[in-house]
Amino acid sequence: MSKSVNGFSKLNKLEKIDWLVSRFLNNDQKLKQVLLQYWNSNEILQNLHDDFIENTLTNFYLPFGVAPNFVINEKKYTIPMVIEESSVVAAASLVSKFWSTRGGFKANVISTVKIGQVHFMYEGDKTELENYFNSKKENLYKVTEAITKNMRKRGGGILTIKLRDKTAELENYYQLHVTFETADSMGANFINSCLEVIAKEFQKEDIQIVMSILSNYVPECLVHAEVSCIVEDLYAENSIELAQKFVQAIQIANAEPHRAVTHNKGIMNGVDAVVIATGNDFRAIEAGVHAFAARSGKYKSLTNASIENGIFKFWIDIPLAVGTVGGLTSLHPLSKLSLQLLGNPSAIELMEIIAVAGLAQNFAALRALTTAGIQKGHMKMHLTNIIKQLGASEKEKKFLIDYFEHKTITHNAVVEAYNKLVQEK
Ligand code: HMG
Repeated sequence: MSKSVNGFSKLNKLEKIDWLVSRFLNNDQKLKQVLLQYWNSNEILQNLHDDFIENTLTNFYLPFGVAPNFVINEKKYTIPMVIEESSVVAAASLVSKFWSTRGGFKANVISTVKIGQVHFMYEGDKTELENYFNSKKENLYKVTEAITKNMRKRGGGILTIKLRDKTAELENYYQLHVTFETADSMGANFINSCLEVIAKEFQKEDIQIVMSILSNYVPECLVHAEVSCIVEDLYAENSIELAQKFVQAIQIANAEPHRAVTHNKGIMNGVDAVVIATGNDFRAIEAGVHAFAARSGKYKSLTNASIENGIFKFWIDIPLAVGTVGGLTSLHPLSKLSLQLLGNPSAIELMEIIAVAGLAQNFAALRALTTAGIQKGHMKMHLTNIIKQLGASEKEKKFLIDYFEHKTITHNAVVEAYNKLVQEK
């Protein structure tokens, strides 16, 4: 049986599943059932999910959890988080509670500028190109008026259009570098539509448009979040020594890219979980954030910490282009619910919340790493996963959780304890 197919997209969902099961899964009907069992019994809801992407066969669940007790700019939040990794939500919850009694988080958006570019090739005289650009500039705004009309009413639109000479990087390469405000939307479709119209207007015989597309590198769509307290409020014992270790952990991330990548991965545990829960594009955020972390030419920490005059301060500056309207935010019932849970924030407020989630996650990780080590808490949270993999009953699960309350948890130790329990039965 051929493993290639024409017209797969035209098959219905069951036909697609049957084709897949027969060609790639030895016609195993149990595997077909695995796919079918994730269909939602509510047909309307299932249809909605089917249409999010192409060739949908079933749904792939991720846990939706919440971290309560966040105080951000004196407002209380319970933050929705969608993530598959144990201990992330627990860590966020622990940290939110910790800082809620120490003044909470402060956050502010520095700027919200987004970027799009028309990339083109031009072999002629640069001054002629500049003259042509200047003669066209007004029109470039004008031709987008129909697209920008509603956005302008909401306070957004095109901010600037600039001609950039990139020939030092690539022969004959120039671009129109366009900046945007997109109010509460992430703005991808809006930006791309504007760029394509601009490119069409700008095109002429000796200008070869290569492509027009937004940039997910948004260093001017930047949010700052921070916490601070007197050093003695940080730890029950050895406060100064441990606070210094915490600061050193960040200095190490700034000095050593291998560490910085893991350090920032921990931050993205918190960031992505909220980005996904609110229906935003985590790939765009990831790409932009890591480019920002490497903006100096060296990949570094996104967070910083200081101890000055007895005050510990810990902060993050992170680029986040997110939306609270449009896209999946209003289509996915759980994204909608997440935004309602957050009090239907503006995009600016959501940027602040997400930055705080990232900062909180980094605080949890660094505090664990520089004290008891990461494995203690991580394995405590992971214990139930291991127990489940072993197929333990509810009674066995309870026994094992109690058994490991004051013991070091490792995969082997849990397997051994479980096997012993089963043998003793
Ligand atoms: P703990 O002190 O053992 O927790 O911390 P506890 O049982 O004493 O409970 C205290 C509070 O923690 C609870 O308060 C909850 O807020 C929260 P309560 O609700 O009782 O009033 N909490 C939980 N919330 C929900 N469900 C739970 C739960 N357990 C505690 N089951 C904890 C345990 C794991 C929180 C702590 O050890 C910790 O923060 N560890 C760090 C975990 C972490 O950073 N995980 C991220 C994944 S590791 C990673 O990928 C990133 C990394 O590589 C990044 C880097 O290197 O920088 C580490």
